[in-house]
Amino acid sequence: MIDNKRILFSGMQATGNLTLGNYLGALKNWLTLSDKYQCFYSVVDLHSITVRQEPSELRKRARALLTLYIAAGLDPEKNCIYYQSHVSGHGELAWILNCFTYMGELNRMTQFKDKSAKHADNINAGLFTYPVLMAADILLFQTDVVPVGIDQMQHLEITRDIAQRFNGIYGDVFTIPEPYIGEVGAKIMSLQDPLKKMSKSDENPNASIYLLDDPDTIIRKCKRAVTDSEGMILYREEQPGIKNLIDIYCACTNKTPEDVVKEFDSKGYGEFKMAVGESIVSVLKPVWDKMEKLSKEKAYIDQVIKKNGEKADYYAKKTLRKVQKKVGFPERIS
Ligand code: TRP
Repeated sequence: MIDNKRILFSGMQATGNLTLGNYLGALKNWLTLSDKYQCFYSVVDLHSITVRQEPSELRKRARALLTLYIAAGLDPEKNCIYYQSHVSGHGELAWILNCFTYMGELNRMTQFKDKSAKHADNINAGLFTYPVLMAADILLFQTDVVPVGIDQMQHLEITRDIAQRFNGIYGDVFTIPEPYIGEVGAKIMSLQDPLKKMSKSDENPNASIYLLDDPDTIIRKCKRAVTDSEGMILYREEQPGIKNLIDIYCACTNKTPEDVVKEFDSKGYGEFKMAVGESIVSVLKPVWDKMEKLSKEKAYIDQVIKKNGEKADYYAKKTLRKVQKKVGFPERIS
C-alpha cells in the first residue's frame, strides 16, 4: 500500500512501433486506474537489450514511449512513469531472484522458445532469464495487481511462484501479485489476417495500424483490410475481418456491436471501412496533438523523468534493502 492505495505495476518495451492494439487494449485502460491504485508504469529498457538494439535508436524510442504515456493522458503527478534503467534495484533484485529460480522453470517459458527461434543467432542468457527480470520489476514495488495480456500470463505465474518460494524461506517479504482483471480491453487483430493478433513486429506494414501513422495511412490500411465475400456487416465468428473492424469501431466510438450492425445495415464494406478509419483518426488526433506539444517541452519531460525516477528508486530501495538483509548481505554503515 502507498497512501492507502493498492499498488499496480506494468511496463512496455520501447522496441517496435506501438500499435492501435497496444493503445486500445492496454494504454487506454490504464487511464482509468490512477484514482484507485498507485500506478507504476515503466519503460522497460533493460528488457529491450535481450535483442540487439541500435543505441541511439533505443534511446530515442524510450523517450518517445515515455512521452507517449503522458500524451495518452497518464498524469505523471499521479502515475509513476519512469525508465527501468534509472532504477538500479531492478537489476539487483533480478540477480538475487535468479538464485531462487530453476532452469527447469525457465525452460518451460513459451516466449523464450518463440524468441530463441526468431533470434537463433543471439540466444543469450538474458533472453533466458527475462522472466526473472520481469518478476523483479513486479516484486520490487510490492505490487498487488499487474494488468497483463494473455501472452504475459505465464511470466506472471512464474513471478508468483518465485515470490512464494522466497517468502516460504524468509517470511513475508513479497506481496504476491494478482493479474489485473478489469474491464477487458479490446482485443485487436491483424488487418491482414484477422485470426492473428495485431502485432508491433508484423512484417506486413498493412497488418497493423501504428499509433504514429498519419491519417491517410490509417484510412488506406482500413480500406485494404482483409474481409470476406458475404457482403453483410454482422458481428460473428464466421466473418473475422468484419468482426475485428466492428471491435475497433466500438472501441473508438464507445458503441456496442449491436449499434454498429444496425448503423451499417444494408451499407457496403467500403463505406464501413471508411467510417472505421475516421473513428481511429478521431481517437488518435488528441494524442498526436499532445505528443507534438510535449516534444517541444524538453525541460518538463526531463523533470518528469528525474522526479519519477527518484520516486521509483525510493520504493525500490525499501524492498531491496529488506531482501538483501534477509539473504544475509552485510548491513550498510551509515
Ligand atoms: N514483458 C512485458 C512485455 O513484453 C513487459 C514487461 C516487463 C512487463 N516487465 C513487466 C509487464 C512487468 C508487466 C509487468 O509485454
